[in-house]
Amino acid sequence: MSHTSLGVSAPLQHYLNSINPSEPALLCRLREETARLRQGKMHIAPAQAQLLAWLAQLLAVKNYLEIGVFTGYSSTALALALPGDARITACDISVTYTDIARRYWTEAQVAHKIELSLQPAIITLDELIAQGKCNHYDLALIDADKAATPHYFERCLKLIRPNGVIAIDNVLSNGRVFQAACETQSQSIQILRRFNQSLKEDTRVSAVTLPIGDGLTLVQKCTDTVLCLHSIANS
Ligand SMILES: C[S@@+](CC[C@H](N)C(=O)[O-])C[C@H]1O[C@@H](n2cnc3c(N)ncnc32)[C@H](O)[C@@H]1O
Repeated sequence: MSHTSLGVSAPLQHYLNSINPSEPALLCRLREETARLRQGKMHIAPAQAQLLAWLAQLLAVKNYLEIGVFTGYSSTALALALPGDARITACDISVTYTDIARRYWTEAQVAHKIELSLQPAIITLDELIAQGKCNHYDLALIDADKAATPHYFERCLKLIRPNGVIAIDNVLSNGRVFQAACETQSQSIQILRRFNQSLKEDTRVSAVTLPIGDGLTLVQKCTDTVLCLHSIANS
């Protein structure tokens, strides 16, 4: 038995690609077009998209909330995995990036599922709460400005239904969150580090962090009848 996970070398990634479902051609093209932008690597990794799409189908997601759309890789991947009557609320502040996303949503014939809110995500989330959308969403992805992650998380926790899942990307920040000199790192790294630590003590949720892409945390909102993993561990 191994106590550590394999690092994903290029040959291992190649092998995984050969046995996992193929990336849809349209998503591959989206990724290639995005790579030509100055910040072209901001999208989630194809393996993360595959995992989230699989999870969305497992959870029978009808309502998906995305914070951080960029050029549309994650939203298009999720929209393709969801049924025709599913609805996606998508938050971003960039017209330039999301114009690219809109083009791919149209081409993928999923544009009717997606409502884009172009303003700071914190405002959109507060509006959704005020509109009575608490406990409405089955799945959320937090992938925007990293320093605001704890604020997005608190709001998502209200908006997600009991047993629903909140996914958070970039929680390992390319290894910077666990480097010894973290205190000298940027404020957003310190915020993420505290946030990662706080989930372990949070009795409202059951969370697991996976070393996939730049680190993906999956958080399930507990109900009274569901024992959180850490409650079991602490008993
Ligand atoms: C990491 S990218 C999102 C990547 C996307 N999930 C994907 O897989 O393609 C972060 C996005 O967050 C957006 N963003 C930054 N600050 C924001 C804010 N305050 N409110 C909403 N979106 C914001 C940026 O415009 C950018 O498109």
